[in-house]
Amino acid sequence: MGQQNGREQWTSKLGFILAAAGSAVGLGNIWRFSYVAGEQGGAAFLFIYLIAIALIGYPLMATEMVIGRKTQKNPIGAFSALAPNTPWWLVGALGVLSGFVILSFYSVVAGWAMHYTVLAATGFSSTADYVDVFLGHITSTWVPLIWHAIFMALTVGIIAAGVVKGIQRTVRLLMPLLFLLLVALVVRGLTLPGSGAGVAFFLTPDFSAVTARTFLTAVGQSFFTLSLGMGALITYGSYLKQDENISDNAGWVVGLDTLVAVIAGFAIFPAVFALGFDPASGAGLAFMTLPAVFAEMPAGLFFGFMFFLLLSVAALTSAISLLEVVVAWVIDEKGWSRAKAAITVGSVIFLVGIPPVLGFSTLSHITFLGFDILDTYDFITGVVMLPLGGLLTCIFVGYVWRASNATKEINNPRGIINFGGWYNILISVVIPVAIAVVLVMGLYDVVSAHYGW
Ligand code: PHE
Repeated sequence: MGQQNGREQWTSKLGFILAAAGSAVGLGNIWRFSYVAGEQGGAAFLFIYLIAIALIGYPLMATEMVIGRKTQKNPIGAFSALAPNTPWWLVGALGVLSGFVILSFYSVVAGWAMHYTVLAATGFSSTADYVDVFLGHITSTWVPLIWHAIFMALTVGIIAAGVVKGIQRTVRLLMPLLFLLLVALVVRGLTLPGSGAGVAFFLTPDFSAVTARTFLTAVGQSFFTLSLGMGALITYGSYLKQDENISDNAGWVVGLDTLVAVIAGFAIFPAVFALGFDPASGAGLAFMTLPAVFAEMPAGLFFGFMFFLLLSVAALTSAISLLEVVVAWVIDEKGWSRAKAAITVGSVIFLVGIPPVLGFSTLSHITFLGFDILDTYDFITGVVMLPLGGLLTCIFVGYVWRASNATKEINNPRGIINFGGWYNILISVVIPVAIAVVLVMGLYDVVSAHYGW
């Protein structure tokens, strides 16, 4: 990053796209996507998810980027700058809080990925039962706790150094590799005997099983996977130069992220069925099925090692964007040094992430609506807070800042995609109404199903 008026800026055109894509592509595309799609019926979920990505995700991503670029501020500062002396800064505050909580459990799952990297490097496939391996790991308390600490320390180290260029270069090199490994997994998964049922599950929608909860989960997943609704892209946009093309850049990030999720689906569901797993096995789905697919591949240990290593790297490039949101706010508003802000915030996030670790062992008696602690964090942030943040951002742009102002900033004469009247209708009516309906009906569905109303 270069400097302008004391604020760092991305130095290259590609830098911003890579950082934003690094934020979007992460555990959400592989771990979270596969298990929520598995629980919510597969193809019908995929269908609703893709609509949510196109209709809500893409316009909102451009919107967040432009709010950041226009104001050159963290999410809280950005809303105050556009609407001074109003309570709209609270939308930014909701975002900073979401980032804080998401990172606390995200780091725990990233720790699982790092542990699996080591397992693969040290002779994974000698163990036959991957369900036992997974459950044994998450219930072992200390090991996942230590990995959570290591992952948080890495995240803090990168943010404290402010070396976005270092991570940019890493991502540029490693993301294509993750992609290739996923494709190799797809090929192996599809050629396993009995994989056809998985392809059918992922591609043949059964809409009779769709409930309000399916919509809620799909909309929540579209926010989570695109890093939307909490100001990550406002923050990254705030380091953007004025002449960058937002509509096209947002299109690249959305397209890439969606491609990785769909490919992950093709890697995981055929294997789930071929190996006789239940697609609704919950948060461990990817961790229990993929090692078994690796075991069936020539040089499986090597591929397994590479895969979990790259998954950990993908998680790291997302985690830094989560931490950066909170740290940018602390630096801008409190005037702390970057290092002090990163270490302090990172330590508190580590502590907040301890209950989700213990929720599989010591604290396994604590549940909320039937969720364990990690799922509770995930549900409250990914399913409720992110869509709510997105909803409020739309109302803000539609009725306070005005869509015409956003469009003026988004459009670029050299761009392929041009934002016009359709954007105004989407941002001020269609998206907020859709999110509100999905939130109210979906939450009612979840709560009523739990209490048997
Ligand atoms: N998008 C990231 C993923 O898919 C997670 C994330 C959510 C990152 C919100 C930043 C903000 O893994």
